[in-house]
Amino acid sequence: MALLSLATYSFGQTGKKKTNPVKKASPATASAADIEAGKALIQKADCMTCHKLDIKLVGPAFMQVAAKYPANDANYASLAARIIAGGSGVWGQIPMAPHATLSPADAKKMAKYILSLK
Ligand code: HEC
Repeated sequence: MALLSLATYSFGQTGKKKTNPVKKASPATASAADIEAGKALIQKADCMTCHKLDIKLVGPAFMQVAAKYPANDANYASLAARIIAGGSGVWGQIPMAPHATLSPADAKKMAKYILSLK
């Protein structure tokens, strides 16, 4: 985590200053950087053995998840908790395995990526 925040810090310092930020109408606070990080985290983890973007596999398609939950902070938090704890009964009886070693911050980035797939 220390490394990650260091990297974020230095990017923030050396990155080009945005002179003309585009404000999104959406109340969601997912930055493009969070979404990209979430995508990379999902590709590194085991998620894609059970999930596909557009078709149901063992778990729901990530696009189905995105269609079900609006992209907002409450849903980022609840899906992040779900990714860490696992569970069943929302999409069917097959359980999702817990991911106890994921940090809440990383799980939240994953949720931001998933809910960006609209
Ligand atoms: C062993 C298979 C498996 C793996 C690995 C897996 N999932 Fe799932 N996932 C499922 C199943 C099955 C469900 C549906 C659970 C249910 O019905 O409540 C699910 C549900 C979800 C949901 C929706 C939860 C809800 O409350 O609607 C999200 C988001 C999700 N998974 C993300 C992930 C992410 C991110 C990873 C990787 C860190 C991951 N999953 C890894 C099987 C898996």
